Amino acid sequence: MAWENDLGDQLFHQNMDNVAPTGIIQYYNLVVKEARGAEVTDVEGKQYIDLLGSASAMNVGHNHPHVVEAMQRQINELVSYDAGYFTNPTSIALAERLANLAPGDGKHKVAFGTSGSDANDGIIKFARAATGRSYVVSFEGSYHGSTFGALSVGACDVDMVRKVGPLVPNIVHVPFPDLYRHYPNETEHDIAMRYLADFMRPFNTYLPAEEVACVLIEPIQGDSGIIKPPAEYMHAIYDFCQENGILFAVDEINQGLGRAGKMWSIEHFGIEPDLISTGKSIAAGMPLSAVIGKDDIMNSLGTSAHVFTAGGNPVCAAASSAVLDVIRDEKLAEKSTIDGEYAKAQFLKLQARFDFIGDVRMFGLNGGIEIVKDKESKIPDNDAAAHIIFRAFQKGLILVKLAGNVLRFQPPLVITRDQLDQVFTILEEVFEDFKQNKIELPDELKNMVW
Ligand SMILES: Cc1ncc(COP(=O)(O)O)c(C=O)c1O
Repeated sequence: MAWENDLGDQLFHQNMDNVAPTGIIQYYNLVVKEARGAEVTDVEGKQYIDLLGSASAMNVGHNHPHVVEAMQRQINELVSYDAGYFTNPTSIALAERLANLAPGDGKHKVAFGTSGSDANDGIIKFARAATGRSYVVSFEGSYHGSTFGALSVGACDVDMVRKVGPLVPNIVHVPFPDLYRHYPNETEHDIAMRYLADFMRPFNTYLPAEEVACVLIEPIQGDSGIIKPPAEYMHAIYDFCQENGILFAVDEINQGLGRAGKMWSIEHFGIEPDLISTGKSIAAGMPLSAVIGKDDIMNSLGTSAHVFTAGGNPVCAAASSAVLDVIRDEKLAEKSTIDGEYAKAQFLKLQARFDFIGDVRMFGLNGGIEIVKDKESKIPDNDAAAHIIFRAFQKGLILVKLAGNVLRFQPPLVITRDQLDQVFTILEEVFEDFKQNKIELPDELKNMVW
């Protein structure tokens, strides 16, 4: 088999022997040994440029010295104490900082958790408690996590929910706008209006607006392929929420913290949400998440409805405060915008050369590159995307897919210009190899699922 290295292969299969398949998103046999910034080294010493950024959890880069040092200092003082009972100065300071990060005036509070999934469960709980209503409207294509609440609001992969139901009741999914695949001659306005009609259909037929607690949306959908809806659409659904006492909640777990070129991706729309879920990069991948919400909403639940032994853990909180320092001091949101434009220009050049590169969607250092049969048909080509990411791996890039056929471009925001240039040199070779039919995919990789 055309695997790259023996030790990686051996460990990869040892992992498959012992970890339940549900915990393995199978790509290629990379086993990570260490990482710095945007660079990852595998167990055999081979280096890669990381275009996955640990699934957008590493906006400040791997092992950022300021983050590592903050964690080391905290470990020497206090590793853990259940902050629900007796909290600590590090967690207290972080809570204040995060509450002040929410867009808009007015007091906000936070509820800590340990994963993005539990933060989205929290959104469902707070929204129901604050409104006394039960329904949640979310979007087809969304990924919100894999606890029961998060699974129930998500809708991007049937395997996630197959065999595990019944799910949390009273969730309604509506389609998410797609500006790439649409009817002939539709303008962005036409598309926005068509999807607005889809959004309204449940409310006009079976869903009383006064029974809806919240709308939960990823302002830029991540796992469906980095998709940004028209601003006109976002504003229309926000206005509808405002008019009907429905809370507007945003999932910023993938797209927040500078990833999309703003601290929060909802800032692209100038909307001040009622509730935000954050995780992943908030503590450089350490297990920390938070719901950030308006004061009255956050006061709606009683003791213990949303509290976790390790929620707001001091080592994670120390990492998180350091992450916020780095995002501010290294101006990572601005860098994401500038370098994202640069990367977009490189992708557009490649798109002009290769007919299998369909849409290039880039919002900051944050891209979804559609691999299609051809530009005319726009038919998704999952197999082509699998070949491309495998060759990229062989040539030293960590690159995976979204939604089957979309290349996921989410490097740590600290990636250097030099590294970006290396990335595009390699990608050009990879695309050329694919065009010339030179890539052979190992059998084991023919069933890549995502
Ligand atoms: C948008 C979004 N929400 C929620 C989650 C779930 O976060 P976690 O895996 O930390 O539970 C993810 C993870 O990929 C995500 O991308």
